[in-house]
Amino acid sequence: MRLSGYFVPTLRDTPKEAQIVSHRYMLRAGLIQQASAGIYSWLPMGHRVLRKVEQIVREEQDAAGAHEILMPTIQAADLWQQSGRYHDYGAEMLRIKDRHGRDMLYGPTNEELVTDIFRSHVRSYRSLPLNLYHIQWKFRDEVRPRFGVMRGREFLMKDNYSFDLDHEGAIRSYNKMFIAYLKTYARMGLRAIPMAAETGPIGGDLSHEFIVLAETGESEVFCHRDWLTDDIRNRSIDMEGDLQPVVDSFLGRYAATDDKHDPSNCPVAPEDLVVTRGIEVGHIFYFGTKYSDPLGGRVAGPDGREVPVHMGSYGIGVSRLVGAIIEASHDDRGIIWPEPVAPFRVGLVNLAVGNEACTGVCDDLYAQLGAAGIEALIDDRDERPGAKLADMDLIGLPWQVIVGPRGLRSGVIEVKDRRTGATEEMTPEAATARLAA
Ligand SMILES: Nc1ncnc2c1ncn2[C@@H]1O[C@H](COP(=O)(O)OP(=O)(O)O)[C@@H](O)[C@H]1O
Ligand SMILES: [Mg+2]
Repeated sequence: MRLSGYFVPTLRDTPKEAQIVSHRYMLRAGLIQQASAGIYSWLPMGHRVLRKVEQIVREEQDAAGAHEILMPTIQAADLWQQSGRYHDYGAEMLRIKDRHGRDMLYGPTNEELVTDIFRSHVRSYRSLPLNLYHIQWKFRDEVRPRFGVMRGREFLMKDNYSFDLDHEGAIRSYNKMFIAYLKTYARMGLRAIPMAAETGPIGGDLSHEFIVLAETGESEVFCHRDWLTDDIRNRSIDMEGDLQPVVDSFLGRYAATDDKHDPSNCPVAPEDLVVTRGIEVGHIFYFGTKYSDPLGGRVAGPDGREVPVHMGSYGIGVSRLVGAIIEASHDDRGIIWPEPVAPFRVGLVNLAVGNEACTGVCDDLYAQLGAAGIEALIDDRDERPGAKLADMDLIGLPWQVIVGPRGLRSGVIEVKDRRTGATEEMTPEAATARLAA
């Protein structure tokens, strides 16, 4: 992509309304624009990141055997009256009337709708287990939307719903999601720690929140310091095998949010306890027959008798994750995107667009990176070198390739690792080979 013809409206000054670093950088790097309180437009670069996060979530759901569907954002109120939640959900739910005076709502979550799909088609235990997910915008009229996309009113969520014949099956489905979640976050360069949680308005009796550690998080959290060095990618896990021992091995290591943590009864020695704050990036629930009972989600069991199915629901805050990744990965100059979610892998900076040699080398490099399948953003704008380098640091692409007249006189360009700041001079050919490796 050529920056001269792209749309990246970066800001020089820090917007006053932004209180946390991810919100500041998302506005300054031109990733989002506020439309109204807690509602954002995603501009081209922000949208690329959002799509990459979404795609990782999708791949791990598919790998865990869930099937993607797409349910609407607008739902009729009757189903919610049947489950009893139309009344219970309160002011967070945006209620709408259509032109015929029918009560509608903008979905804050989809347990009712998915149970309706299920009950219309599934009759026998032989169709189970079943796990359906979608990635769709939600609306919750939060009292205090804040921190940009972290606590929005409209936000993108991956939510899925598992259906099983009995408790035992439901726990298998729950465990599968538990592991799929850990893999999902790890692929984005995040460490998310599962913590026992309250179930809130979703209901149920088994629930875990997945929390990314960050000083700016909304809740105080406590965990054993071994969590800080664990990486699930080092374990080989058979998703079709018995996952209970694997889940237990994670849950055996202490981690709790402040509503579950009891300082007078903490199993971790003070020197091993990490006390910090965290961002909730996912939440999973097992709630048995809470929705299948009132909504009639029933199947015939092996003995022919009809029983309500056991359900779980599982959410990942896709749009919130973009903010959480920045909270976890930045410095005082800007964002540092982990490679798997970076909008482009390489930023190619032409320090002197009027200089024929520089522009020739940049154009060649850009073509070669493209041929090697490497996404690159080339800064071909006629701007001061200092401003271009500052913008590139702010935007935070993992690799920078800097081409200037001085280096070119001895045939070299500069390759910079955004995370470490380490730079190395090399020929353009060596740079392409290095980045393609
Ligand atoms: N207002 C919001 N803005 C952005 N993301 C949100 C918001 N509310 C929830 N999420 C994300 O969606 C995930 C699932 O939400 P859920 O757990 O059902 O909501 P809650 O945390 O309100 O109980 C959360 O873990 C979080 O990552
Ligand atoms: Mg939650």
